[in-house]
Amino acid sequence: MFPTPTPHISAKPGDFGKTVLMPGDPLRSKFIAENFLENPVLVNNVRGVQGYTGTYKGVPVSVMASGMGMPSMGIYSYELFNFYGVENILRVGSVGALSEKLHVRDIVLAQGACTNSAYAAQFGCRGAIAPIADYGLLRTAADIAEERGLRCTVGNLLSSDTFYDDDKTANAAWIKMGVLGIEMEAAALYLNAMRAGKKALTICTVSDHLYRPEALSPEDRQESLTQMIEIALDTAAKMASK
Ligand code: HPA
Repeated sequence: MFPTPTPHISAKPGDFGKTVLMPGDPLRSKFIAENFLENPVLVNNVRGVQGYTGTYKGVPVSVMASGMGMPSMGIYSYELFNFYGVENILRVGSVGALSEKLHVRDIVLAQGACTNSAYAAQFGCRGAIAPIADYGLLRTAADIAEERGLRCTVGNLLSSDTFYDDDKTANAAWIKMGVLGIEMEAAALYLNAMRAGKKALTICTVSDHLYRPEALSPEDRQESLTQMIEIALDTAAKMASK
């Protein structure tokens, strides 16, 4: 029997859908549940990490916050995959752009997540393991974005342990390798999914550009957020039959 409830999630077995959307921010979890799901029910509120399950296009879908950074995403995604039987996790977050090809409001699908974190060391692989998205989720989300005519880029992100990094030159090497932008959770999510034999994808909107001043109005921010959430929810609905 799975050890539920866990130290971090008070939900009962079966409280989560097969697919869980994970924004970083608990208030965003509440926003998604209240504005995009039908009949959302609060299934977890330990530490205010709000988790809800409702339906979308008739399919049970959950949303729960990951918190910020890889230790936090690591804990919640581990427990969802391994103790609650969750099959798919879709991170819906923000990314700071490194690539000059990206603009604020763009949507990025993280095919891979490079990292400066030691999170992968626990798995004992000799050499560098490549944290990657599930291809089926990635392809489904990319197709949905294309059908909707959205600006969407697929590629590598950097999952960083630091938001305020003392080394101001650290990004140059990642840019040389074509890394599109920086966020803080995808690598832990991907590694946990890979280890558990489950599926994960990170979908981000570009919230800021690290090398170009680009403003994002509250309306723009809301619209790109809505687009990202709808891609994630349509992907979740499609996964119900897979
Ligand atoms: N760094 C890390 N994570 C982020 C950033 C950033 O600059 N912007 C949005 N998420």
